[in-house]
Amino acid sequence: MGSSRRHESLIPLSREHHYGLMLCLRIHRGLPVRGNDETWVRAKAAQAAEFFASDLTGHFKAEEEALFPAMRDIAGASELLNDLLSEHREIERLAAQLGPTAGAESVDALGKFADLLEAHIRKEERELFPLYENEVGAELAEEVGRAVKAIVGDALKPIDTVAKSIDRGCRGRACPCPSWQ
Ligand SMILES: [Fe+2]
Ligand SMILES: [Fe+2]
Repeated sequence: MGSSRRHESLIPLSREHHYGLMLCLRIHRGLPVRGNDETWVRAKAAQAAEFFASDLTGHFKAEEEALFPAMRDIAGASELLNDLLSEHREIERLAAQLGPTAGAESVDALGKFADLLEAHIRKEERELFPLYENEVGAELAEEVGRAVKAIVGDALKPIDTVAKSIDRGCRGRACPCPSWQ
């Protein structure tokens, strides 16, 4: 392995990373100008919570049950894997503060959620996935790919309906996707 394109077994996860980055981009752009607008904050918080429930829970499950275990034996990977795992728990904790009862005070949690989710995705794309592509053998990668697909499918579109509309709007210069797209 080791081409510039993502390994096939990682593509559904990379697609979901793209949807997550789109959501973070919208939140990061909106917060400085609409962070005092309670209606906007509530709506964005609800959207982030929905995206978490519909898309990110399965995504984390696929990483934790299929991808991370396949990388446990790689020299030097354990610190990175442990960091990523604790970030999952922290993102979960922040998402729980963004549910239907979220009010104007959730503006803090919303910003933290978008900061952490974006940094987390970029870390996986820049550090974890290249390590996987260099170190995991073809047979194991095939198994990982099957297990990832069994959990998240092909992820051709986000499950979350609002995120679907975000995705449609991302084909231009604003797209934050890393070079794997
Ligand atoms: Fe992750
Ligand atoms: Fe991920």
